[in-house]
Amino acid sequence: MTDIDYKRRQFLQYTALGTLAAAMPGFAFAENRVINKTPDHSFKADVEIALTAQTADIPILPGAHTHVFKYTGKLLKGPQTALKELPGYLGPILNFEQGQKVRIFFHNQLPEPCVTHWHGMHVPQLMDGHPMYAIHHGEQYVYEFEVKNPAGTNWYHSHTHELMASQVYQGLAGLITITDEAERRLELPSGEYDIPLVIQDRSFSQGNQLRYMLNMHQRMRGFLGDTILVNGQSDSAIAVKTRAYRLRILNGSNSRIYKLGWDDGTPLIAIGTDGGLLEKPQTFPYIMLAPAERVELWVDFSGRKPGSNLTLQNLAYQGSAAHMGGGMGGGRHGMGRMGMMDGASGQNDVFPVVKFRITEQIGDSPALPATLVPLRRLTTTDVTHPDTTVPITIGMRHMAFNLNGKTFEMQNYSEQEKIPLNSVQKIKISHDSQGMGGGMRGGRGGGMGMMMALPHPIHLHGQQFQILSRKQNNPGGAYDTVKDGFITSGWKDTVLVMPGEEVEIIKPFKDYTGLFLYHCHNLEHEDMGMMRNFFVS
Ligand code: C2O
Ligand code: CU
Repeated sequence: MTDIDYKRRQFLQYTALGTLAAAMPGFAFAENRVINKTPDHSFKADVEIALTAQTADIPILPGAHTHVFKYTGKLLKGPQTALKELPGYLGPILNFEQGQKVRIFFHNQLPEPCVTHWHGMHVPQLMDGHPMYAIHHGEQYVYEFEVKNPAGTNWYHSHTHELMASQVYQGLAGLITITDEAERRLELPSGEYDIPLVIQDRSFSQGNQLRYMLNMHQRMRGFLGDTILVNGQSDSAIAVKTRAYRLRILNGSNSRIYKLGWDDGTPLIAIGTDGGLLEKPQTFPYIMLAPAERVELWVDFSGRKPGSNLTLQNLAYQGSAAHMGGGMGGGRHGMGRMGMMDGASGQNDVFPVVKFRITEQIGDSPALPATLVPLRRLTTTDVTHPDTTVPITIGMRHMAFNLNGKTFEMQNYSEQEKIPLNSVQKIKISHDSQGMGGGMRGGRGGGMGMMMALPHPIHLHGQQFQILSRKQNNPGGAYDTVKDGFITSGWKDTVLVMPGEEVEIIKPFKDYTGLFLYHCHNLEHEDMGMMRNFFVS
């Protein structure tokens, strides 16, 4: 039995238990599951899309085609720019305009249950892709939401209970780009000069099939592949002209955290993050990009020679999962189609991620705007109850990571997970690796300490938040090799929390009541239950 079969069986056992309590008005009730089967005709959609999750066999590597899961889309109503198919296994890029009303007919043609989450988007509970709304093969779920987010780069992916990691790994993900008035005024590079880059690591068998097998150790660390795919394709080299570009980068990997830098030492210029554009461009020596995080870069190839290359590479850093040693065992691409990746050594390698080849000299290039979009910095004075802090404490028990001492419960929440509607909350995410058995300094005999030394990308559904502070309780050593790579201005929905760190964030909970997930976006961690609900009421 493969690992994927095992997860599938667990899911079926779960649905057989039938835990859902009651039907809600307008929603069909089948086999103890609430699903939104039909459109709400009072919702006047500007854009309508049919999105199907299905199996496909597509070329990724030379030779045999690869069996994947793939979202395929069809635009039923709205501007042609709303949907753009990509080659490879990624779903189409969905492009929305702030204020648009969007209806998506989601069809599940997979041999297993599935549900889709619009990561980063501020939508109601029923439209958010909570795992309780998974549908079976042949069923339809209708998503309807207004686009409230500002211009930026979001994404969609499977959120199926205990199958999220394997389904995303097999291809169930795609980008969502949003445009708005403020962004248009900036006249940022657009069209062919606006390049989406979804970075993922995968591992292939001799027969070009995706390999996703986890032993206990790999399950705890999360899956690390030995081949980098960019936009679902291997060996990417992107032809560019001598001018400025906008790069929209998503780390769509299951668990790999990248430390991104230009190979010639040029600083990175960030113009956007998870929640959209920054107030002004910001320069970094390197940027840490954890699973689900986005960063938008400005890169200017002006003055570079045709024929030359500039490569975005992963830089070495300590305190990564590599410290847990071991791993995938060198696969077919063990020494890397991309160069230096060694599947056996985890994350701590230098390897190329995406190469740009300067092919054409042109005269003109837009200049980097000095300011981007206005951003009101939230402070503790915005917090509704300044003396209460919502805790998210990273922990581990019985060989599973947890949050606040608890693993996922489909519809349950604790007292401290109740959030008043229309409040602004201060949330403290703590990763106390010391208290949990040694953490970064090695721990008791390696085992538990090493596990607790893992970084965790913590994602909160609903509205975007701002980072108030990051505090490292074990300064020195490994942390110092990553600390200059965190973007702490702008709106975020995912934040990488390093061992020993305390990260304080401020998050509004406006507009929608109900259950909203928060979880680790290391997908293997999420599937093992490192996820909880907030209940907004
Ligand atoms: Cu990107 Cu709850 O997920
Ligand atoms: Cu985690």
